[in-house]
Amino acid sequence: MITHKKLPNGFAYIEIKNSAAEAKIALQGAHLFHYARVGEEPILWLSEVSDFELGKAIRGGVPICWPWFGFNEDRTLPQHGFARVSLWEFVCSDESDEKRTTLTFRLTHNKKTLQMWHYKFELELHVTISDKLTMELKTTNIDDKEFEITQALHTYFKVSHISNVSVKGFNKNPYLDALTYKNKVQDGDITFNQEVDRVYQEVDGIIVLKDKKREISINNDGSSSVVVWNPWIEKTLRMSAMKKDAYENMLCIESANAFDDVRVVKPQKSHTLKATIF
Ligand code: BG6
Repeated sequence: MITHKKLPNGFAYIEIKNSAAEAKIALQGAHLFHYARVGEEPILWLSEVSDFELGKAIRGGVPICWPWFGFNEDRTLPQHGFARVSLWEFVCSDESDEKRTTLTFRLTHNKKTLQMWHYKFELELHVTISDKLTMELKTTNIDDKEFEITQALHTYFKVSHISNVSVKGFNKNPYLDALTYKNKVQDGDITFNQEVDRVYQEVDGIIVLKDKKREISINNDGSSSVVVWNPWIEKTLRMSAMKKDAYENMLCIESANAFDDVRVVKPQKSHTLKATIF
């Protein structure tokens, strides 16, 4: 079942419930901010002090970073692009299977986006809520010139405590350490005892987030880069919409096209970034 809801300030979202899972998706940013299998703990982390307000990105869930990841050369433009703070259109849903709900959201260029990014585009998000969570972000170039994108499904995972966590799937992968801008190579699993902000490259295969009592797997398509981020103590104090100890219970593993994994989309062509979480 899907229900359209609104907060008292007019912030609109859709609640999804089926026999396998439940979820919540805001129309701003097509931003999924809750996903849990029936009878289980939520998979996604959501800040207790996040703003649900037009023009401000929700802190947690899965922000969509698009059409650029990170800073733009023009620092007056928003970090991680404009898609996460734009109002998307809810296109349709498919509820024909009681264990699975699929929803489609769309964002197209308008006067405001053309001022920030000079291309005509159609961006679609297909989300499937079932015992797995699938997100497909399809970029179509409807301009007459090619464009380049960087992007991410910036997933915040909820963890029991960051010190209990390890991440498998990056052994021997090169990465850019975004804190020092040095290129390094991963040795074994990733564990956390300080701030981590890295863009892993040449990623292929399933990533496993191991926590005390559960394992979450992530499979990406249309992507060879994955961002792993935990702000740790000092940075958390400077982050918007995060309590001071919030870093203890979250970890971002972001299915991306970032750093050297830039994608060129030719006129009338598409590129799809897909993440499956199970
Ligand atoms: C991560 C970046 O993807 O997003 C970090 O690697 C950044 O450097 C983080 O701090 C959060 O960004 P924002 O814009 O949501 O505060």
